[in-house]
Amino acid sequence: MPKFRAPRGAADILPEEQPYWDFVSQQVERLCRLYGYRRIEPPLFEDVGLFERSVGAETDIVQKEMYTFQDKGGDTLALRPEGTASVCRAYLEHGMQSLPQPVRLYYLLPMFRYERPQAGRYRQFHQFGFEAIGEADAALDAEVIDLSWQLYRAFGLKGLRLALNSIGTPESRPRYHEALRAYYQPHLGQVCPDCRARFERAPLRLLDCKQDAALAEAAPRSLDYLDGESARHFQQLCRYLDGLDVPYTLDHRLVRGLDYYTRTVYEIQPAQEGSQSTIGAGGRYDGLIQELGGPPTPGVGFAGGMERIILNLKRQGVALAATAAPRAFVAFVGEEAKAVAVRVTGELRRAGVAAALGLGDRSLKAQLRQASATGAAYAVILGADELAAGAATVRDLAQATQERVPLGTLAERLRAPGSGPSSL
Ligand code: HAM
Repeated sequence: MPKFRAPRGAADILPEEQPYWDFVSQQVERLCRLYGYRRIEPPLFEDVGLFERSVGAETDIVQKEMYTFQDKGGDTLALRPEGTASVCRAYLEHGMQSLPQPVRLYYLLPMFRYERPQAGRYRQFHQFGFEAIGEADAALDAEVIDLSWQLYRAFGLKGLRLALNSIGTPESRPRYHEALRAYYQPHLGQVCPDCRARFERAPLRLLDCKQDAALAEAAPRSLDYLDGESARHFQQLCRYLDGLDVPYTLDHRLVRGLDYYTRTVYEIQPAQEGSQSTIGAGGRYDGLIQELGGPPTPGVGFAGGMERIILNLKRQGVALAATAAPRAFVAFVGEEAKAVAVRVTGELRRAGVAAALGLGDRSLKAQLRQASATGAAYAVILGADELAAGAATVRDLAQATQERVPLGTLAERLRAPGSGPSSL
């Protein structure tokens, strides 16, 4: 029995999984650049106060899920549970207010939340995300939602639902909270104990209660309680999304578990499943930068869960091949030939030809078996005859044909068609 395993809720991303990760990351980078976003990479841990102030001291993330620790200098730090707070902190710290606004930033980062692990829910997971800071225009919400939607299309995922809502501003929300409390008061027996406890502090969260969907469905709707400006903002957003041909479903039960949201909130969900399986979510956070000590600065953003996206790619049968096979496998007979084989393998690699070398003192037959097992296209064989001729025998492993090739032209002969000389 091995003495150690990966910590609960944290996983190794094995080589055979990497094509999925590469594919998702490449689409994120391609589309983010297309929309004018630049990459940012904040540190993995931050002052714990940053998350208390932004995500919210009363939220599940801060109350139950943060990996908080004290370092040797006595500072209380937390592994980041999400990216928006760090990006906004960096925006302020680096004076990005003086850049042309909005500032568009994207990231691909590991996140940490102490949650109960299950399929699609981990303690270390990865998000890609983007944030557009410094502009309140609904056209920017439309841009961020459009970018999110085009990304999931680029992943090739089918049957997704984009749920949209507006939760107004902190100024307009108390009136809505009152309406919700009045509605739920006589029905508190029908909600789960967690939600009953949230009734006073966070009545919005009751809309998310799984216990009685019909009760939540009939609850007062935030769209009916918006202030005039927020209502106009939401109307504009819907109009812009229609123009962009982004399909959305109004969902008045959509409330987010983070405190910083104002006005626009949205989620992308796979067709059949509930909110547990949400594969990306975002919204507007016009009060967040000010909460962090900056001037009033609006912002809007989104983050997608990489593990959940990959889970859905696999479920929908999107196959991505791993291509780590070497082009050439260099085999040898005898110690003299081995020294040449080590040199030739190095030369091939430096010339940009992916090459593997037979190791130890295995027989030629065993080395050739190994060459086939690695998926190499060619075996390069070096023995006494070849050394005497200053050449190698090159065997095409698929065709079972072979030819003599002078060592000086080996790289040229083996280079894959279309691949140029190495840039090394
Ligand atoms: P969030 O809804 O907490 O929002 O997380 C965004 C996405 O991260 C989720 O929809 C889900 O796909 C993924 N995710 C969250 N927790 C886990 C987990 N334990 N395991 C696997 N995947 C998970 C945010 O984090 C906001 N910062 C989004 C945002 C950006 N809002 C504005 N800008």
